[in-house]
Amino acid sequence: MTDDDPGTAVRRDRFSGGPAREFLSSLAADAAIFEADLAVDRAHTVMLAEQGIVDDAVAGEILAALADVADAGHGDLSDGEDVHEAIETAVIDRIGPDGGRMHTARSRNDEVATCIRFRLREDLLAAVEATLALREALVDVASEHTETVMPGYTHLQPAQPTTVAHYLLSYEGAVARDTARLLDAYERVNRSPLGAAAFAGTPFDVDRDRTAELLGFDGTVRNSMDAASARDFLAEGATACATLATTLSGLAEDLIIFSNKGVVELSDAYASTSSIMPQKKNPDTLELTRGVAGDAIGEATGTLSLLKGLPRAYNRDLQRAHAGVFEIADDVREATAIAAGAVATADWDEPALADAAGDGFSTATGVADLLAMGGMPFRTAHEIVATAAETVSDDDTAEAAAAKVDEATRKVTDEPLSTYVSREDVESALDPATSVASRDSAGGPAPETVADDLAAAETEIETDAEAVAARRESLADAAELLDAEVAGYV
Ligand code: ARG
Repeated sequence: MTDDDPGTAVRRDRFSGGPAREFLSSLAADAAIFEADLAVDRAHTVMLAEQGIVDDAVAGEILAALADVADAGHGDLSDGEDVHEAIETAVIDRIGPDGGRMHTARSRNDEVATCIRFRLREDLLAAVEATLALREALVDVASEHTETVMPGYTHLQPAQPTTVAHYLLSYEGAVARDTARLLDAYERVNRSPLGAAAFAGTPFDVDRDRTAELLGFDGTVRNSMDAASARDFLAEGATACATLATTLSGLAEDLIIFSNKGVVELSDAYASTSSIMPQKKNPDTLELTRGVAGDAIGEATGTLSLLKGLPRAYNRDLQRAHAGVFEIADDVREATAIAAGAVATADWDEPALADAAGDGFSTATGVADLLAMGGMPFRTAHEIVATAAETVSDDDTAEAAAAKVDEATRKVTDEPLSTYVSREDVESALDPATSVASRDSAGGPAPETVADDLAAAETEIETDAEAVAARRESLADAAELLDAEVAGYV
């Protein structure tokens, strides 16, 4: 300690200055867990009083000081090593040495681990809610387009016609799994490490289940060494976000390509322009959405890299593990909301899509299927249609294309097409809408199949929304309980 810098009640002269001071301190980044730390302090203090570890009167003074610290805000904390130490110092500054009883039977190790779980669960729920809104947007737009044929691609080459509804539902299914991954991660995040102390437990008669209850956790992380050191939940949260962001990046990329082809027009609210080229309407929001995936993957990789090889039980490396995960969860949540808005407001150009749907002889597979249904081995049918494809062009009428299939059948099998199917049936199979309607296998694009799948998706969204609401409610109940208990002391 120096005269210029008296240090703090908690750190004394161990954190008094010097070149490492800035480097050691996480105070600025800890703004993200300021609220969490106050809640953890309150719950811990209430439990200490209930267990007779601190007097009710002292608990009341601590809790009143905490309320004052909360009102003053994170910005009012004195310079310190981190938010935990700074809040404790602020409490001691307000009520004197009894403030130091708040840190009985705990360590910053279990404290910070509790704070980051407390904060991350909110981020995860917000991300889940964003996925639900995106799924709703996908289903809503899909419902309007069960009959809107569009080209489907593999290798970005025209492959088979499908519908806009079938295409959009393909993303609804993927985002539904992202919802599930986030909810699954939430289960493992929402466990309380508090009461583990530094890692080795405490001789005080703490009630870990009670602090877990007051903080809305669904139980504790039992082993105290595991509780203080575990950060796998951060890696899991980051990975769930990165997987969602990867899903979004594919959707964004598709819509960018479809805009380029002129079959989708983004609403102005989701487009940008060029500062020099006045005619430009650019899909910038989708490009940024695509870009978020890179950051998210980086965060997931960075988190695992930071954790790799860390010895038990606590190492200061861990201080660097969480802030980026909170940030990326928020970025991914925002990108999800943007994707939802872009999907909900985009215009699908039905005539242009219909026009493109048959391009590149995209109904060829359907014609081969038809020949195989007429009794021909599929491989022979494939050869016939491949032979016809050499001469069929996008300008051919259905009649002309069917004639070419007939010709190819004779060439490959020495038999006329009519041995297997009628020319009319081939002409009809060449029509993109008929082709789509014929593919009514489970999960296929036929409008009535998609109608069933839309209904199923709506039900699943409702179920997931109820799951989120139940979690939100249980957190709100716990917050209310904690407030009520605190009120009993102050
Ligand atoms: N700011 C620290 C962190 O985020 C708190 C824990 C400090 N513990 C310690 N043993 N130095 O990890």
